[in-house]
Amino acid sequence: MTELKNDCLLRALLRKPVNRTPVWLMRQAGRYLPEYRATRSRAGSFLSLCQTPELACEVTLQPLVRFFLDAAIIFSDILTVPDAMGLELSFSEREGPTFAKPVRSSSDIARLGIPDPEVDLRYVMDTIRLTRSELGGSVPLIGFAGSPWTLATYMIEGRSSKDFSRVKCLLYDQPEKMHKLLERITQAVTLYMNAQATAGSQVLMVFDTWGGILTPRNYREFSLNYMTQIITGLTRVVNDKKIPIILFTKGSGACLGDIAATDCDAIGIDWTVDLNYARSQVGSHVALQGNLDPAILAASPENIRKHVIQVLDDFGTGSGHVFNLGHGIRPWTDPEHVRILVDTVHELSSTYHNQDSTE
Ligand code: CP3
Repeated sequence: MTELKNDCLLRALLRKPVNRTPVWLMRQAGRYLPEYRATRSRAGSFLSLCQTPELACEVTLQPLVRFFLDAAIIFSDILTVPDAMGLELSFSEREGPTFAKPVRSSSDIARLGIPDPEVDLRYVMDTIRLTRSELGGSVPLIGFAGSPWTLATYMIEGRSSKDFSRVKCLLYDQPEKMHKLLERITQAVTLYMNAQATAGSQVLMVFDTWGGILTPRNYREFSLNYMTQIITGLTRVVNDKKIPIILFTKGSGACLGDIAATDCDAIGIDWTVDLNYARSQVGSHVALQGNLDPAILAASPENIRKHVIQVLDDFGTGSGHVFNLGHGIRPWTDPEHVRILVDTVHELSSTYHNQDSTE
């Protein structure tokens, strides 16, 4: 396989010296881009866009045509795994994701399939192979999956939820049942992520969007525990290249030390903690990714620049920082404001790195 022309992201994730801070953005491909909306309407629906490798590859690359980004993230969704486990996913414009067969009983859990990624999620693997070839070694390709806990919240509630009453009731009343479900999802996600690495993903990221709704004790037992098992089950080196692993739990400020103690390479940080605080909690154990508030992208160019600089300042000098938002880009975002963010990181971040230190 081709050597990478731009390996800034991989180096920062492994805390090797870099001459500037790499930048990519969660949900960098999506509805805020008119070209994405055009491709999605050609595909007919969001799900058929995910399931058609040529189109999924096309939208993966769209933000890289516009902006100077240091990574591509495969266009897919975390909910494709529960869909392949038999829950029958659909998306509606008004309601978001819905499962026709949510998990409600022990027999629902026993019935859950463990998907063979090359068969049941073949479209994702084909998208990865096609996108790697289209990228031609320009920037690394990030693969991802949802955390077992976050997937379980959608699988039990059957849709997005405001208060998570059903899933929390199961956790408090029948913790053994919750653990059975999480074990099964962990098995499916581990297989899926290993297959993504084999297909060509050069970085793997776990999205734990809802870990932050748990008490710290329950977070460790019901979310972090299973992410740790996934990391243990992942093949960390493919074709002699280390595959860095990023764990992102939204709202995890109280548990950063615990996350750093897993064998992950980097932690995604949302905007509710400062990066200097996060760095003080994890030492030089892991890299940090984040953490600009996506809401800043609605503000003036001058204020966007100011807050980008604040995030760079908060991390401070040295390698181990990947610039990103603290959560995904919102659909109303003006693409020109995204350009301001990306260009500001490129223009200014070299001052945070020792210019002589690149090997
Ligand atoms: O980051 C990227 O550019 C890669 C693509 C990506 C999508 N979803 C595409 C998407 C990634 C990494 C995800 C992850 C994902 N999906 C998460 C974890 C990250 C997070 O944002 O917290 C979650 C919780 C989901 C589940 C999901 N997918 C929901 C709740 C929704 C509906 C809400 C919404 O934002 O529309 C989706 C739909 C979805 N996934 C869209 C995109 C671009 C919008 C679909 C559309 O085109 O209408």
